[in-house]
Amino acid sequence: MSEVLVDVKDVKKYFPTGEKGKYVKAVDGVSFQIYKGETLGVVGESGCGKSTTGRLVLKLLDVTEGTVSFKGQELNGLSRKEMRGLRREMQIIFQDPYASLDPRKTVFQILAEPFQIHNKEMSREEIHEKVTSLIDHVGLRPEHIYRYPHEFSGGQRQRVGIARAIALNPEFVVCDEPVSALDVSIQAQVINLMADLKKEFQLTYMFISHDLRIIKHFCDRVMVMYLGNVVEIGEKTAIYEKRRHPYTKALLSAIPNVKGTAQGERILLTGDIPSPVNPPSGCPFHPRCRYCMDICKKEKPCLRTMADGTQVACHLDME
Ligand SMILES: Nc1ncnc2c1ncn2[C@@H]1O[C@H](COP(=O)(O)OP(=O)(O)OP(=O)(O)O)[C@@H](O)[C@H]1O
Ligand code: SF4
Ligand SMILES: [Mg+2]
Repeated sequence: MSEVLVDVKDVKKYFPTGEKGKYVKAVDGVSFQIYKGETLGVVGESGCGKSTTGRLVLKLLDVTEGTVSFKGQELNGLSRKEMRGLRREMQIIFQDPYASLDPRKTVFQILAEPFQIHNKEMSREEIHEKVTSLIDHVGLRPEHIYRYPHEFSGGQRQRVGIARAIALNPEFVVCDEPVSALDVSIQAQVINLMADLKKEFQLTYMFISHDLRIIKHFCDRVMVMYLGNVVEIGEKTAIYEKRRHPYTKALLSAIPNVKGTAQGERILLTGDIPSPVNPPSGCPFHPRCRYCMDICKKEKPCLRTMADGTQVACHLDME
């Protein structure tokens, strides 16, 4: 396996609820790696901690416990100034480009900003050249740089969001539901653009999505999250074909007709997702798991590594 770019160890993020001693356990002890050049897909139901994990990895949020390292450097103790240097190497693409782009700025102003902050010595002409080249890379036209975000379609706006993320030649990009807000017909175009840019700029992606078909198409490895935990992580084909973890089984059974995946019965998940303020004892999935055993209610399963390298957090005997 290639070089580890991002190393996350036992990370927790607890948000205060406002009530004394009570916390939203948004991320509750996750460990995983992201390898240079790969696309790691992150899936799981709404509220399971995907976005929070993405933000912790970029230090847009501080961890409550645990460590995040980028290229061997631990981020916890870094000052704002030290982080500024790293910021250019780690970027994010948001779900809703309309909310993340300043409506009062033209595309030129939006895309010039990263250069003005990080390359103070660049002249206006040099910046103009960079912005024009960026616009071209994301499939927009030169005259678009004088327009405002509201003058674009959703797909074009996301292209601006992508241009901003890649402006400084980052190594690593967290993509948080980058196509979920777009029309289905536009999604494929934006995904293809992201794939082209990945090749051209040798990017590494952490790709968060609800859409298990897009994840299957676009990612190399997949991480399945449930209630602030990683329940399974491994190569895409192993995850989609073997479906070892009972939660992965249920999640994937909801997408029939995915080529190359084993088809089985549709497993309906009963019961609501428990509150992350008061997560269940033992295995966080136990109240909804059809295989639940006594031990599951008492002991939280650790990630175990299978022969094919997939890691699964479950007490069941499996290979
Ligand atoms: N700033 C915050 N303060 C308090 N609670 C938060 C905060 N941010 C997230 N949460 C809570 O943390 C949990 C995880 O949220 P997160 O946004 O990471 O989930 P997600 O998997 O990205 O969900 P979605 O698929 O809906 O985007 C949720 O219960 C959410 O309400
Ligand atoms: S540990 Fe037990 S409850 Fe949890 S997923 Fe495995 S079988 Fe189900
Ligand atoms: Mg989210």
